[in-house]
Amino acid sequence: MRLVLVGPPGAGKGTQAQFIAEHLQVPKISTGDIFRANVGQGTELGLLAKTFMDRGDLVPDDVTIEMVRNRLTEDDAQGGFLLDGFPRTVPQAEVLDSMLAESGVKLHVVLELVVEDDEVIRRLSGRRTCRTCNHIWHIDFDPPSVEGVCDLDGGELYQRDDDQAETIANRLKVYANETAPLVGYYASRGLLVGIDATGPVDDVTQRAIDALRPLQHGD
Ligand code: AP5
Repeated sequence: MRLVLVGPPGAGKGTQAQFIAEHLQVPKISTGDIFRANVGQGTELGLLAKTFMDRGDLVPDDVTIEMVRNRLTEDDAQGGFLLDGFPRTVPQAEVLDSMLAESGVKLHVVLELVVEDDEVIRRLSGRRTCRTCNHIWHIDFDPPSVEGVCDLDGGELYQRDDDQAETIANRLKVYANETAPLVGYYASRGLLVGIDATGPVDDVTQRAIDALRPLQHGD
């Protein structure tokens, strides 16, 4: 299955992507994770991306599109994928359509995680991420057994630089202006499925799996 997850910052895309990708047995491709890995490694791409990410702005389309184009040519993405955080603008969505058309395939579904702004602010301000495996935790809603330590691999948990109050406010503004139009773009193509992404993580995963079940067939 070729699937896109869309939703505001903090909607739970990364959290759900882990479970949904495992359930569908497709690779999870997160542009945010790829940018953060590049920032961590101090690559040229990372240095460029960081200037935009720290403000909560989008990395320019040409840079992001090239990165995704390369990632989608890798072997593991040939049988399907889950895209988390891409596309994020209508031009990115248009390029994705043409990339897939060039390969003779298409998207099956765009899953929208629907959550109100006050809830995403609560989620982002308490988020902690494992430095080693990228697993996502929350200090109140999904705490690790030992503060600051990942239950899965003992890695150090850190707070993302873009999870500061001012940056969160800008990210929500950027989402409303640049990414929310994708909802209409995909709805008009009959690809959009929205689910309520509030409540316990497991309940949201179950809603996602139930929504995807009728679509789990080939091309
Ligand atoms: P990215 O990493 O994609 O950030 P984002 O879209 O802002 O989304 P987040 O990762 O903040 O939130 P999420 O929805 O994944 O929520 P999560 O599961 O972590 O992008 C970062 C930056 O990279 C962008 O700002 C931009 O600069 C750049 N970028 C990336 N892609 C780009 C693109 N295509 N074009 C241009 N620039 C791009 O959950 C949040 C918290 O809530 C966690 O603590 C979690 O434990 C908790 N939580 C999750 N679900 C629940 C629940 N059901 N109940 C309670 N708590 C929950």
